[in-house]
Amino acid sequence: MEKFIVEGGRPLYGHIDIQSAKNAVLPLLAASVLTEEAVIIHKCPRISDVVGMTGILEELGCAVRWEGGDLYIDSSAAANHEIPAALAKELRSSVFMLGSVIARFGRARIAYPGGCDIGLRPIDLHLSGLRRLGVEISEDGGYIDCACPRPQGAEVLLDCPSVGATENLILASARAEGTTVIRNAAREPEIVDLQNFINRMGGRVKGAGGATVVVEGVRKLHGAEFTPMPDRIEAGTFLIAAAMCGGKLALTNVQPAHLDALLHKLREISCKIGAEGDKIYIECAGRRLSPKLVETSPYPGFPTDLQAPMTALACICEGATVVVENLFETRFKHVPELIRMGADITVRGRAALIRGVRSLQGADVIAGDLRGGAALTLAAVSAEGESTVTDLRFIDRGYSGFEYKLRAAGARIRRVRV
Ligand code: EPZ
Repeated sequence: MEKFIVEGGRPLYGHIDIQSAKNAVLPLLAASVLTEEAVIIHKCPRISDVVGMTGILEELGCAVRWEGGDLYIDSSAAANHEIPAALAKELRSSVFMLGSVIARFGRARIAYPGGCDIGLRPIDLHLSGLRRLGVEISEDGGYIDCACPRPQGAEVLLDCPSVGATENLILASARAEGTTVIRNAAREPEIVDLQNFINRMGGRVKGAGGATVVVEGVRKLHGAEFTPMPDRIEAGTFLIAAAMCGGKLALTNVQPAHLDALLHKLREISCKIGAEGDKIYIECAGRRLSPKLVETSPYPGFPTDLQAPMTALACICEGATVVVENLFETRFKHVPELIRMGADITVRGRAALIRGVRSLQGADVIAGDLRGGAALTLAAVSAEGESTVTDLRFIDRGYSGFEYKLRAAGARIRRVRV
C-alpha cells in the first residue's frame, strides 16, 4: 500500500496539462470491440481503470499494446464473450462491455458488478434497455447471461439519465437491425465523444449531448484513430486546488464549456478566472466566501464527481455551505476524514452542512474512493502542517501523475510505500 506525505500551507503557481478524460476513454475501449479492425486511442491516460479495461479486452482475445501515450487495440482475433468475474467486480465500467460484446458476438456473460464505494449503482436501466433491443437476459448466481443474434432497433425511455446505460445502449445498437431512439439520455460530453468515435468507425449516431440519441444500426464498423476529450473532472479538481491553496494556475488541454457549473461557483466565491480556447486561468488570494449551496445533478448541472473536492473547499470558506449529493447514496466517505483535519461538517442523509474554518490542520487520513481521495489530498495540500493520505489505489484509478502535477505547481507532496 502507498501513501502521500504532504507538507501543506503553500500556494500553487504554475501550469498543468490535463489528461484525456477517464470517463470518455473507458466507453471508447468498449467500443473498440465493435469492429474486427484495429483502433488507436491517442493520448490515452495510463490510469488503473484504463489498465483494468485493457485487461478485460485481452481476456476477450483482443491484442492490446501501448506506444508511448497511444493505445493500439486489435480485436480481430477476439472470440470470448465472457467478462471474467474478478475483473468485472474490480471495474464498475466493465458493465459497458455488455453492449459491445453482445453487438459483436451475439451473446455476453458478466459477473454482476458489485456495489461500489459510492452507492448501490444498480444496472436495472442497462438491462431493461437491452431487453428492449431484443436481448434475452438471465441472471443466476451473480452472473448475467445475455443472448441476441443481432439487436433490433427500438425506442428506449430511461427512467433517469444514466450515463452508463446511455453508453451501453449506444454500443449495443450501433450494429443493430434498424434504428434505436434513446430518450431521457444522459447529456454528458463523454457521450458525445463516444458518438464521434463510433461515427468515425462508420457508425450512424446522432443527438449525443442532448436528451434524445438516435442510432441507425449498420452491418459493419471499420477501424479508426481517435483522441479523447480532456478530463473535465481532473481539470475541476485542480481548479478547486487553486481555490483552496491560493496562487495562480494555468490549465491547458481543457474545454471550458464542460466546466460551466464549477466555473460559475468559483467566480461566485471570488476566484478570478479567465478562459480562452483550450486554456483556463485561475487566480485566488485571501479567503474564499462560502458557495452557500452546492447541489449535484446530471450534466450540465454541478458534477457529482466534483462534490468531494468542493466539500473540501467549503471547509475553509468564510460562512456556511450546504452540499447536497443527489446522484449517489454514500458519497460522503471523505467527511469523517475532513473532520479529523478540523473541518466542521454535519451530514444528514444526502445533505452536508459545512461551517467554514480559517484553515484545516494536518492529519493522517485514509482515502475511501477515487474523488474522495483527491479531495483529501487537496485538503492536505492546503492544511497547516503535515498530513498523510493513505491508500492511493483509488486516486490512481482516475488521476495520472496526480502528485507530480501538484508538486510541479509548488506543493510539497511525495508518495511512499507504507
Ligand atoms: C458514470 O457512472 C461515471 N463513470 C461516474 O464517474 C459518474 O459519477 C456518473 O456517471 C454520474 O455522472 C464512468 O463514466 C465510468 P449513472 P455511471 O449510471 O454510469 C442511477 C468517477 O468518479 N442508476 O449516470 O455508473 C444510479 O444509481 C465515476 O469518475 C440506476 O438507478 O453513473 C445513480 O443514482 C464515479 N439504474 C444515477 O443513476 C441504472 O441502471 C447516476 O448513475 C444505472 C444508474
